[in-house]
Amino acid sequence: MKILITENYDKMSETAFSFVKEIITEKPDAVLGLATGSTPIGLYALMVRDHEQNGTSYKGIKSVNLDEYVGLSADNEQSYAYFMNYHLFDKVDIDKNNTHLPCGTAEDKKAECRRYNELLKTLVPDVQILGIGSNGHIGFNEPGTEKDSVTHVVNLTENTIKDNSRLFDRIEDVPRQAFSMGIKNILASKKIIVMASGENKAKAVRAMIEGPVSSACPASFLREHNDVVVVVDKAAGKLIK
Ligand code: F6R
Repeated sequence: MKILITENYDKMSETAFSFVKEIITEKPDAVLGLATGSTPIGLYALMVRDHEQNGTSYKGIKSVNLDEYVGLSADNEQSYAYFMNYHLFDKVDIDKNNTHLPCGTAEDKKAECRRYNELLKTLVPDVQILGIGSNGHIGFNEPGTEKDSVTHVVNLTENTIKDNSRLFDRIEDVPRQAFSMGIKNILASKKIIVMASGENKAKAVRAMIEGPVSSACPASFLREHNDVVVVVDKAAGKLIK
């Protein structure tokens, strides 16, 4: 694991962006593994700015997202599909047919997990962007999720429901389940960039880097991958020895 501690959120975003820019410049048909949440918003803004100012094209780029809430359709403002359209896909020249997320409204959830796992066999990310939950989750792989897990339906923990409720009008509105890539899917990516910002992530970042490799902190499994870059701001990195 390569660990980069940056001054603040903006510098974290710029550092992550420099890796992504290098990949899409070298490989215009790269597969990007993408995350939602507050952490990568700055990165996506830099990708959009770079597209607008420098003409960096996403025409050949494909993407797969980590997760989606069960029950939310792409036109629901709280869905991850909506988030990705809003922050990135609608603002660059990517072909939307090449962007993929689990389908939140799939009637047969097991079949949807199978479909996504099959898709991930053909679209292996050249780089996977990750945030980390304050409980050490990656994707929606909550503590207790094993290393060999693949796309599955997750019952979100109270901790995650509480963390994510800031984006909903009421905590009761936060879906209780999500589709998520498993740890095995995430570890199949060629390169992984984990981003974290803010003091509430400091314990999870320390556990990921210095704690035991165990399902108690799903992010700790990333230590078994040979090309992981951790980019955190000072507050999130403050407990790293
Ligand atoms: C989002 C995802 C989650 C988030 C994590 C951090 O697609 O998979 O694991 O990365 O919950 O969320 P934020 O960035 O909002 O702190």
